[in-house]
Amino acid sequence: MERTKIYRETRLVSKTDIRGLEDAAKHLAGGEVVGFPTETVYGLGANAFDEEAVDRIFKAKGRPGDNPLIVHIYSKEQIPELVSEITPNAQKLMDAFMPGPITVIMKKSDRIPSNVTAGLDTVGIRMPSHETANQFLKLCGCPVAAPSANLSGSPSPTRAEHVMDDMNGYVYAVVDGGESNVGLESTVVDCSGEQPVVLRPGAITKAMIDSVCGTDSDTKLTAEKGETPKAPGMKYRHYAPNAPVEIIMLPEGTGIINDEGGESSDFEFDSEKLNEEDSKRYYNLTAPYLTRVSEMLKENPFARIGLFCGGEVKALLQKLDDKVILSHCHFYTYGRAADVSAASHCLFDGMRLLDIQGVDLILAAGFDGAGLSKAYMNRLGKAALRTGETTPEMNTGKKTLRGERDLDSFSDVETMSVLFVCRSNRTLSAACEGILTSIINREQPFASVNDAGIGIELYADSAGMYAMEGESPNEMMVKAVKDAAGVNIGHHKTRRVTVSMIDNSDLILTARDDDAYEIVKSFPEIKNKVFSLSSFAASRGLVFKDDKGRVAGVSIPDPEGENQETFNHTAKALKAWIELLFPYILGEIEAQRI
Ligand code: TXA
Ligand code: MG
Repeated sequence: MERTKIYRETRLVSKTDIRGLEDAAKHLAGGEVVGFPTETVYGLGANAFDEEAVDRIFKAKGRPGDNPLIVHIYSKEQIPELVSEITPNAQKLMDAFMPGPITVIMKKSDRIPSNVTAGLDTVGIRMPSHETANQFLKLCGCPVAAPSANLSGSPSPTRAEHVMDDMNGYVYAVVDGGESNVGLESTVVDCSGEQPVVLRPGAITKAMIDSVCGTDSDTKLTAEKGETPKAPGMKYRHYAPNAPVEIIMLPEGTGIINDEGGESSDFEFDSEKLNEEDSKRYYNLTAPYLTRVSEMLKENPFARIGLFCGGEVKALLQKLDDKVILSHCHFYTYGRAADVSAASHCLFDGMRLLDIQGVDLILAAGFDGAGLSKAYMNRLGKAALRTGETTPEMNTGKKTLRGERDLDSFSDVETMSVLFVCRSNRTLSAACEGILTSIINREQPFASVNDAGIGIELYADSAGMYAMEGESPNEMMVKAVKDAAGVNIGHHKTRRVTVSMIDNSDLILTARDDDAYEIVKSFPEIKNKVFSLSSFAASRGLVFKDDKGRVAGVSIPDPEGENQETFNHTAKALKAWIELLFPYILGEIEAQRI
């Protein structure tokens, strides 16, 4: 679904800013979309009685219109206007768990426009227990239709920053109410029939529902073919980070903490005071991670691995002090390893954060309990599932294009990328990325050589084999590239090369010959798409001779540590090389200028 920015900037409203809350509520009631906190995850709300306003939610989210929204209320007195029937089980569940992390589905009233419920004759009602949510919903004065406030296909947001990351410019305001306490979306229970049916597990567990209704509720978590999806994730792939996720189950016999909910306590670890029993327990928790990390590093010595794990695991790995292992691990610890409530609270934040760090794989803790564990594993399972149907707008791991291209005239568009690699990503590769990008912007649009109806989006990228994350390029290189090619690479941020970058790139180029050699040594299977600039030229039959007629060695050294003049010289050489090779680069990816 097409997304268009409609605000220059989305207002971020603090929960203590009463005027700001009133303003956001007034705008929501008047037809705009506002992000707001709840105890489960953040929601993206619009006036549930206003069909056009509800449409704006779908636009902002990039979400298909066949997935129904939940209607949020601040008082149970609003319910009769929204539903046409309250079954005994619906009543019991609302009495017991509302306000709280539950959505009760009932037959809808005529007041609710059909785009709220995706054409269904039922509606999900939810009354959050979050203080700011209630205050805000009351100020709105109307029932508020809201899905989770993430971009379709990315993890649900549990902090206002997450909502801003996904929605800045697309919605009027976001109310910042701090971190969502539960961290997983509400339990969705269909109470429109005789038996309650759990459509989505959450913090209100099946056992809690059964004990209140005196039933044995059905759980229905997969959509039959052709059926309208009954709950999120039944049809659409949700919660998926870019990196693949592997689940590392807690060792058998580990007592799960807080499976029926409850407050998590902080984890403290004093390695000096570890008794024998604790050491063994910590080791058992850590060993499966250690094994997997070692295996990965054998496969790929550049791998960067994200660990979503208990504090014990990180503490013990640090105590083992294996420099190689540690330098490849990025930790997100949620609390005590066995605490499923803490893991649930942090899951989406963890997936987002590890993803931003560009890890190649995420190892995440798994729980086999019967309560909250079920909801946690349901979400984690979806993150681990790489084969589901993808939703539009889903982040495929490729960066969107820089510059504007008119590719609308093509029936189909393919994305192709050239990745430049050096060591630090602060000098050579950053410069090459900038230079190639400027050439692409000048020469575009491109079409496929094989089928002129297929447009080619081409972009340049860069990364370093030993790069730090997020550093700025070398200032002398920034200046040199500006002088030589008129391009400002000052905004570039360094990145470490990852397996998925290597996989996703159509051509990989280096300035230094030995850098190309090193990549091919680590990934022999992709040797056909890795070249240094000089080996790429030679492979196309371009041979350069110096003034004495000798074949010139053209590996371009890294100017790091040299003076400005050397940088200038390097930037000029890179510019000349890439200009010269550009037609061959197009040829390599079977694209042509049009
Ligand atoms: O915790 C939550 O439920 C959060 C916060 C913001 O309240 N909301 C949320 O909304 O997770 P969303 O749209 O991401 O997921 C709600 C799902 C819908 O996708 C839908 O599948 C199910 O609840 N649902 C809503 N109304 C339904 C209905 N009438 N029949 C069946 N399922 C329904
Ligand atoms: Mg959602």
